[in-house]
Amino acid sequence: VPCVSVWAVVVAAGAGERFGRPKQLELVGGRRVVDWAVSAARRWCEGVVVVVAPHELGVDIDGADAVVAGGRERSDSVRAGLAALPEGVEIVVVHDAARPAAPDGLFGAVIAAVRDGADGAVPGLPVTDTIKVVAHDGTVEQTLDRHRLVAVQTPQAFRVDALRGAHAGGGDATDDAALVEGRGGRVVVVAGDPANVKLTVPSDLAALDAALAGGRD
Ligand code: CTP
Ligand code: MG
Repeated sequence: VPCVSVWAVVVAAGAGERFGRPKQLELVGGRRVVDWAVSAARRWCEGVVVVVAPHELGVDIDGADAVVAGGRERSDSVRAGLAALPEGVEIVVVHDAARPAAPDGLFGAVIAAVRDGADGAVPGLPVTDTIKVVAHDGTVEQTLDRHRLVAVQTPQAFRVDALRGAHAGGGDATDDAALVEGRGGRVVVVAGDPANVKLTVPSDLAALDAALAGGRD
């Protein structure tokens, strides 16, 4: 289903410190991690902006309508992507290049939730571990109610003005939705997918390779 006025920003400008090298250029299931992410985004969006590290601007990215240089923190890279969107875009989907196995339906679900009136929509998974808030000295301050917690993934969809507004003041967050929530925006959670693993450390490669070996669909 083509989505009028929906564009994607795929952020691929990280250094991959925990992985040991820029993981978005790693091969999984026969393609680069970033290529999986871009092609998934393409199926749902009119256009795709890919944000890469400044020294990777020459890297060929198939399916990108624009390739722009990112910044130091993830939020800087998202801002660079937002700045490159054409006028008239109403919904933007922000997706981590490091999530090559995001199922197609997840893009549809977050876009639909924003079309239905939310300022933002994010995929969330139930948390299986008990989560505690801990002080610097190791003392537990609080144990959170696990039943109210979700672990959040990308793709995340937003009304463009809501996300632009949230990013206007600068700021940094590991998650764009947090910036939108911070200024009173209504962000909803849709069901995430356990297969939508973020490539973070080399041991994540095996699962992703297996998931993507036969192609995604
Ligand atoms: N990202 C980005 N610009 C940054 C930092 C991160 O575009 N300055 C992107 C990454 O390329 C990745 C996504 O944001 O697709 C999620 O970030 P993360 O998994 O933390 O990737 P890295 O920052 O590359 O990894 P690390 O934190 O281990 O260095
Ligand atoms: Mg990082």
